[in-house]
Amino acid sequence: MIAHIQEVVAMHTAFVAGATGYTGREVVRALLAAGVRTVAHVRPDSASAGAWRARFAALGAEVDSTPWAGPAMAATLARVRPTLVFALLGTTRRRARAAARHGVTESYASVDYGLTRLLLDAAVASGARPRFVYLSSAGVHEGTRNAYLSARARLERDLRASGLPFVVARPAFVTGPDRDEPRPLERAAARVSDAALSVASRLGARRLAARWRSTSGAALASALVRLALDPGAEGRVVEGDGLR
Ligand SMILES: NC(=O)c1ccc[n+]([C@@H]2O[C@H](COP(=O)([O-])OP(=O)(O)OC[C@H]3O[C@@H](n4cnc5c(N)ncnc54)[C@H](OP(=O)(O)O)[C@@H]3O)[C@@H](O)[C@H]2O)c1
Repeated sequence: MIAHIQEVVAMHTAFVAGATGYTGREVVRALLAAGVRTVAHVRPDSASAGAWRARFAALGAEVDSTPWAGPAMAATLARVRPTLVFALLGTTRRRARAAARHGVTESYASVDYGLTRLLLDAAVASGARPRFVYLSSAGVHEGTRNAYLSARARLERDLRASGLPFVVARPAFVTGPDRDEPRPLERAAARVSDAALSVASRLGARRLAARWRSTSGAALASALVRLALDPGAEGRVVEGDGLR
């Protein structure tokens, strides 16, 4: 049985976009721990590209710095031929404000949707039919007017229409003291919400509590890798306890 699992894992190559993020770096670590050949994508314009390159290489990952442009990304995925593509990137209002100070316009539409769609198109064009593991968000639903959620709803729709095998994960707060950016408001909100949910759970609202409880990058990453490698997870949208 163990030999069979090792054989299955050895067949995989994972391409991780958003590898430098709080969740992405843990996904790289979890993939390598599982024995999966892992290509970590680091954007070429990253101010810390050298440090990330060294960090991922030390873990045993390959590092790719293809620019975020359709033909280049398609050529890379055609060469790497991943069996798994992880889409773990996204901006925040704070990042968008920082980019604007450098004259760059960033938004949920251009990064969370736009770059993920570029990756999806490249995955389709590669001909490798990788399983696309998409990190979406709790609360996504059709018709939402929230810009953050609607970027994800749109991408989920495109993913279903793409014909690629997929898994969608919809976590609530992804947070912990090990995040580089302090994000104090996010952590405080997660603490308050976790406390309220624990009361709700005791009062019987267990499913609601499970769906909205916060998780850490490491816990989410191990769930994403488990789902990515599970043939039974094909086409699933996973949230709550399924991501713990
Ligand atoms: N945090 C939460 O509570 C939460 C909850 C549900 C869903 N999510 C979603 O899950 C995903 C990952 O979350 P996270 O907290 O792990 O993210 P994170 O730590 O903020 O990392 C974001 C990743 O996206 C990349 N990125 C951001 N802007 C980019 C741009 N303009 N061009 C190219 N790459 C860019 C970053 O690359 P650089 O390092 O090079 O900047 C980094 O790899 C996001 O889509 C997020 O919205 C988050």
